[in-house]
Amino acid sequence: MNSFGRIFRVNIFGESHGTSIGVVIDGCPAGIPVFELDFLTDIERRKSGKKGTTARLEDDTPNIISGVYNNFTTGSPIAILFSNKNTKSEDYNNLAKHPRPGHADFTAKTKFKEFNDPRGGGHFSGRLTLPIVAAGVIAKKILNNIKINATLIEAGGDVNVENAVNKAIEQKETIGGIVECKADGIPIGWGEPFFDSVESVISHLAFSIPAINGIEFGNGFLAAKNTGASQNDLILTENGKTKTNNCGGNNGGITNGNQLVFRVAVKPASSISTPQSTYNFEENQIKDLIVNGRHDSCIALRVSVIIEAITAIALVDFRLIFEANR
Ligand SMILES: Cc1cc2nc3c(=O)[nH]c(=O)nc-3n(C[C@H](O)[C@H](O)[C@H](O)COP(=O)(O)O)c2cc1C
Repeated sequence: MNSFGRIFRVNIFGESHGTSIGVVIDGCPAGIPVFELDFLTDIERRKSGKKGTTARLEDDTPNIISGVYNNFTTGSPIAILFSNKNTKSEDYNNLAKHPRPGHADFTAKTKFKEFNDPRGGGHFSGRLTLPIVAAGVIAKKILNNIKINATLIEAGGDVNVENAVNKAIEQKETIGGIVECKADGIPIGWGEPFFDSVESVISHLAFSIPAINGIEFGNGFLAAKNTGASQNDLILTENGKTKTNNCGGNNGGITNGNQLVFRVAVKPASSISTPQSTYNFEENQIKDLIVNGRHDSCIALRVSVIIEAITAIALVDFRLIFEANR
C-alpha cells in the first residue's frame, strides 16, 4: 500500500494538486537531532526550476507537525507536511477521458472507478517523491557514518547531460537517464537471505518511484556475459575487502563490507508536447491527444536525491532489524 518498512516505517500521502502532501515516519529512534534547516539541501536538489525541469515551482517548506520536540525526535511518529500552492488543475481536465500513454491516467481511472484525483497526476505524481526525500533526510541522519552518493551519469543515452538536455528541449522531446548510487561504510551483515535481501528491498523502494524502469547491482546485466572466474570478487583481507566489486557490495542478500553500488534507469516523462494518437474514452475512438500542463523534459535530473533517500530508508531499516536481532 502506501507504507514501507519493517521497523523504520515510511507512509506517504497526498495528491499533486490537493492542499498538502506529506510523510509519517513510525519507528524512528528517539534522540535524533532534527532541524528544519537539515532538509533544505536535499529538498533543493529535488526541486524543479532548473533547465530541463518543470516550470511548476513550489517553496517545498517542510512543516514538522509531530514527533520532534526541542529539535530531537521523540520516538513517536514523525509527521511532515508540504503545501501545494502552484497548481493549474484545468490543464488536466481532458486526461480522465483521454489518458496519457505511458502515464497512470488509465490504470488509476480503471482501478479506482474514476474516483481518483486526476489533477496533476494525483497520487501518482512525481511530487509525492518530496515526502520520500524528507524521510531520507532523517534516515541519513541515523546513518551518519554511512555516505550515500547518487549521480546522474547519463541522460538520453549521452554522458554529456547538458548537451542531452539542450537537445531534448530544442526538439520539444522528453528524455530518460541513468542514476548511479554508491554507499560506503555499511557494516557486514545487513540484509536477509531471500525476501528481504539488500537487492530486493532496495529494488522494491526504487520501483516505487514513478518513472523508474530498471535497476542493476554491481556489474548487473554484464554478469550474464562473464565467466565464473571473471565475475567472482576475490577476497583480499580478513574484513572481506574484495579485489573487484562485480556483485555491488552484497552476497546472499547480505552486505559484505564493500561499497554498495547500483544503477537505475529513469524513463522519459510520458507527457510530451507533440500530439499522440491514443484512445479517447469519451468518444470511443482513437484521437489525437494534446497534453497540456508543465512537465519535466528530463525527470532524471531530479532523481539522484530521491535514490539517495530510498537507499537511506532501506539501510536504516536493515540496521534496526540487525540491532533488534543481536
Ligand atoms: C521527480 C519526478 C518528476 C516527474 N515529472 C513528470 C512530469 O513532469 N511529467 C510526466 O508525465 N511524468 C512525470 N513523472 C513520472 C510520472 O509520475 C510517472 O511516469 C507516472 O506516475 C506513471 O508511473 P510509471 O512511469 O512508474 O509507470 C515524474 C516522476 C518523478 C519521480
